[in-house]
Amino acid sequence: MKVKVIIPASGSGERFGGKTPKQFLKIDGKEIIAHTLEKFNSISLIDEIIISTQLEYFVKLSTIIKKYNLKKVKKITEGGKLRQDSVYNALINLECDRDDLILVHDAVRPFISNKKIIELVKAAGKEKCVILGLPVNETIKRVDKNNIVTETLDRNNVWAIQTPQAFQYSILLNAFEKAMSENFIGTDEAAIVENAGIDVKVMEGEKRNIKITVKGDVRL
Ligand code: C5P
Repeated sequence: MKVKVIIPASGSGERFGGKTPKQFLKIDGKEIIAHTLEKFNSISLIDEIIISTQLEYFVKLSTIIKKYNLKKVKKITEGGKLRQDSVYNALINLECDRDDLILVHDAVRPFISNKKIIELVKAAGKEKCVILGLPVNETIKRVDKNNIVTETLDRNNVWAIQTPQAFQYSILLNAFEKAMSENFIGTDEAAIVENAGIDVKVMEGEKRNIKITVKGDVRL
């Protein structure tokens, strides 16, 4: 069984503002995506990394890969309009056996620990589909288009979901093909697998594993 990682890095960073997509901005003098890639590159359980990004960033990304000697990055594929398209394009460009494990991780979550990635790989080796998340502390409400509350959810069984998310290759590929043929859109890979009727297990993630979304997150 091999372990392969897909890094979707084709977001334009609309919520973040500025010209350069946030995955290419620097923290401590190093691009956010380089921080993220270094984590996965350094874990011996991981065999290969593939990244999806916009065509105009292929050269920049190749330079980063060379500069930080990220030897496990084997391919860059073109990202798509939706995150789901970016992940699918990477997935169909991977050569895998059905039992291989695929991890999908946001380029803009550089703070995940090696320990947690290893825990996830081990759990997914047994359970097939495992994702990270944190139980929510806040009360969560659903609102209508006028911001009027329509429902208060029971927070005892609500989790905020993170990446990496890990899946057996054949399950993920079949689920993506079903989603694409039905025009089903999922905001994470788990939603796509759930749509195929497959159980996904949630494992406790890490508070530090934030998704850099707005400028304040970089300062943090
Ligand atoms: O859009 P969001 O902030 O949730 O993005 C999460 C990750 O998905 C980021 O790493 C972003 O670059 C990536 N993404 C992508 N293709 C898109 C949109 C987002 O690869 N079309």
